[in-house]
Amino acid sequence: MSRALLAIALIFVAAGLARAQSPEPPAIVKTRCAACHGERGESAGEDFPRLAAQHEAYLAKQLADFKAGRREGIMQRMVRGVAEGDLEAAARYYSAQSVPAPAPKSELHDVGRFVFLRGNPWAKIPACKACHGESAHGSAQLPRLATQNAAYLERQIREFTQRKRTNDNEVMHSIAERLTALEARAVAEYLATLP
Ligand code: HEC
Ligand code: HEC
Repeated sequence: MSRALLAIALIFVAAGLARAQSPEPPAIVKTRCAACHGERGESAGEDFPRLAAQHEAYLAKQLADFKAGRREGIMQRMVRGVAEGDLEAAARYYSAQSVPAPAPKSELHDVGRFVFLRGNPWAKIPACKACHGESAHGSAQLPRLATQNAAYLERQIREFTQRKRTNDNEVMHSIAERLTALEARAVAEYLATLP
């Protein structure tokens, strides 16, 4: 291949990649979700979970649980009257996005790393990485925690402890209730900074 042809081919490949990485958000995302979760799933504030790069199956399950009332909260109102297909499109779109992680904020970050990788053997808390994966990227059944907003993570841990979040199995309840407030804050701060 001549130099010129190669250059043209590369431009086409690059353009294709750029398109693949940033498709237009589906209409439902723009009109019903972006105000809180952002157009790319980056979220509009600490209390709203970042949906970018979250597993599609996990997002779809949470949306179905909100719709059926199995998981309670503000989201129940947000999915009311939204067609099944639109929710699927939003889950598919957000799961394909990615957003950068912020830099560590305080020395709690190191405490959080310890809790995530080792748990707290003195309080019989298992390592979070045992289920959520070494890089906190999760799996289809398990949520990704990396890059998630710290305030949101901390609140979920509290809600598991208070049995307010009851749509899933018991496993997170028994783990969350053994974390001290400091450990919960620390592990949340650590997770927020993981790419
Ligand atoms: C008014 C703000 C707001 C809007 C609009 C909104 N959400 Fe949410 N969403 C939240 C909050 C807050 C939570 C965290 C759960 C809670 O606090 O009860 C959440 C949680 C979620 C979760 C669970 C995430 C997790 O990690 O478990 C999904 C999935 C979700 N929203 C998808 C959507 C989709 C799709 C739309 C559009 C149809 C939407 N949301 C519109 C505020 C909003
Ligand atoms: C035995 C497996 C297991 C271990 C160990 C575990 N988790 Fe989980 N975690 C889950 C499952 C499964 C879910 C999905 C929700 C559910 O089923 O209750 C979850 C959900 C979560 C969520 C909610 C995420 C979201 O997007 O709303 C947070 C936060 C969380 N875990 C934090 C932790 C932390 C912090 C640790 C370590 C102290 C930990 N987990 C250890 C299995 C585990």
